[in-house]
Amino acid sequence: MTGASASLKGGKKFLLAPSLLDADLMRLGEEIKRVEGLFDWIHVDVMDGHFVPNLSFGPGLVSSLRRGFPNSFIDVHIMVEPAERFVDMFTGVSPDILTVQVEATKHIHRVLQSIRAAGARPGIAINPGTPVSAIETILHMADLVLVMTVNPGFGAQTFLPEAAAKLKELVRFRVVHSLDYLIEVDGGVNARNASLLVSTGCDVLVAGSAIFKQADPVSAASAIRESASRG
Ligand code: DX5
Ligand code: ZN
Repeated sequence: MTGASASLKGGKKFLLAPSLLDADLMRLGEEIKRVEGLFDWIHVDVMDGHFVPNLSFGPGLVSSLRRGFPNSFIDVHIMVEPAERFVDMFTGVSPDILTVQVEATKHIHRVLQSIRAAGARPGIAINPGTPVSAIETILHMADLVLVMTVNPGFGAQTFLPEAAAKLKELVRFRVVHSLDYLIEVDGGVNARNASLLVSTGCDVLVAGSAIFKQADPVSAASAIRESASRG
């Protein structure tokens, strides 16, 4: 991997992206500061109560993160349908990456084009039931592919190994077609599976409950990093 997306990795073996979904929202800023230095990106999950059976954050949070953590890399994952209706709303608050679920739009090509035209990096997410073949024709347009390893909607679910099998396919496709998207895994990531995920070729690990639902988020994030660095 050598292109523009690869440069996002900055030569690191992996990137850790804590998901704020399971953080204590009364103390969100403190929660983030507490693990500062242990993460690379901040992962924001946006849910609409329609595409997924839960509601979460909106563009206001992304905007506040931009102000509160001006140097942080903000990775926004929107689980909203139809995705195209929300693209301007989110590109308007300057995420670094805006990732849309392929299942949430009839016009994924146009959505990816419009994200890039608005100055953000486009990402494509696939649910556990969606095969890699469903996105092969648009992978050249993406800077990131997010593989859901739980059904989207909630944190603290169990990692689905059958969904993770798609990581290998994405690694292979990237080599064969000389593409340079990053591969991100989202759902059920923890210190026990991080090493295997990185050795499979995963670039970005999202972890929510394995950090913020732990008694000591600092040692929890360190344990994930330690495991990932062995991958
Ligand atoms: C689920 C979200 C995930 C989730 C991860 O729909 O996309 O980012 O918050 O949480 P954990 O790491 O607890 O599975
Ligand atoms: Zn997510």
